Amino acid sequence: MALIRITAVVMLVLVGCTEEPLYGPPTESMCPPPPTGTALTYENFGKPFMEAYCTRCHDSKLVGAARHGATSFHDFDTLFGIKAVKAHIDLTSASGPAATNTSMPPDGKQPSLEEREQLGEWIACGVPSDP
Ligand code: HEC
Repeated sequence: MALIRITAVVMLVLVGCTEEPLYGPPTESMCPPPPTGTALTYENFGKPFMEAYCTRCHDSKLVGAARHGATSFHDFDTLFGIKAVKAHIDLTSASGPAATNTSMPPDGKQPSLEEREQLGEWIACGVPSDP
């Protein structure tokens, strides 16, 4: 009986370990230097990206169960909310020379690799918005 219980505990621990970790390594994305710079802005990229893949859960207007467990104060319906945790967004969702992080979104429609690379670049440039 004790052996069965120990086996069950060991199996639970093993299942836990095979889950993808929430945080991957920093993507080490680069911001293209001037004069080119980045063409990505909040208006033409950040906002539509977050609305397509993230604000279903991470929205300041959502509370309780409607957040599907999304961490408090990680709300991506405003540029301010994105800026506050942009490093965490890189570690969970972006792609760059050092890593492709795909733990977010946890389910549903996934961004393409190109979109994850653009996210890395936009973050590396400091999440710029239109002047
Ligand atoms: C289906 C709901 C859902 C969607 C869609 C979603 N997330 Fe999450 N997010 C979660 C949950 C649940 C957690 C908490 C995970 C945990 O603690 O293990 C989380 C945690 C996070 C965290 C880490 C917060 C911390 O604890 O530091 C970041 C960053 C994040 N999400 C970014 C994003 C981004 C960026 C997107 C869109 C590309 C996204 N999420 C889409 C549900 C979601």
